Amino acid sequence: MTQGALAERIGVSSKTISKWETAKGLPDISLLQPLAQALGISVIELMNGEQIRNRNVSANMLRSQFYVCPICGNVIHAVGSALVSCCGITLPALEAEETDEDHSVTIENVEDEHFITIHHPMTKAHFISFVAFVTSDRMQMIRLYPESDAQTRLQLRGRGYLYYCCNQHGLFRKKY
Ligand SMILES: [Fe+2]
Repeated sequence: MTQGALAERIGVSSKTISKWETAKGLPDISLLQPLAQALGISVIELMNGEQIRNRNVSANMLRSQFYVCPICGNVIHAVGSALVSCCGITLPALEAEETDEDHSVTIENVEDEHFITIHHPMTKAHFISFVAFVTSDRMQMIRLYPESDAQTRLQLRGRGYLYYCCNQHGLFRKKY
């Protein structure tokens, strides 16, 4: 579609479209709906800059993404990429880092369970907010709270990833 064709559809000048394309200006909020309609996409796709296609594939749990709301502490788990918002803000998927010396973990076998200890403070200001174990077909998540122990028991069946999230330093992941 040319700049002129798009401009005509939404009732602006082609110079305006050119400004948007070269990042010299942004569409007025009242134009978002007509602009999305003219492009055949949803407003949410327009805002996100990515077209959402339903490929109807079964997503692999090992491609898990975690989203944490910095306002209310909500934790959202997705098995693929998603556009997630909470408390009015769009949440980026947390990028898991390798464990570091300030966020190390010990795993001990106790009967058929595994005792997970994260060596980390659990104060109100700095704590581990959840632990999750993800394999190709299941996810277990345990919520942890400040002033409790950074410990939990998990049934680790098969191989997967152990995730844990620090409220200040983000998400950590260890292959298990
Ligand atoms: Fe931390």
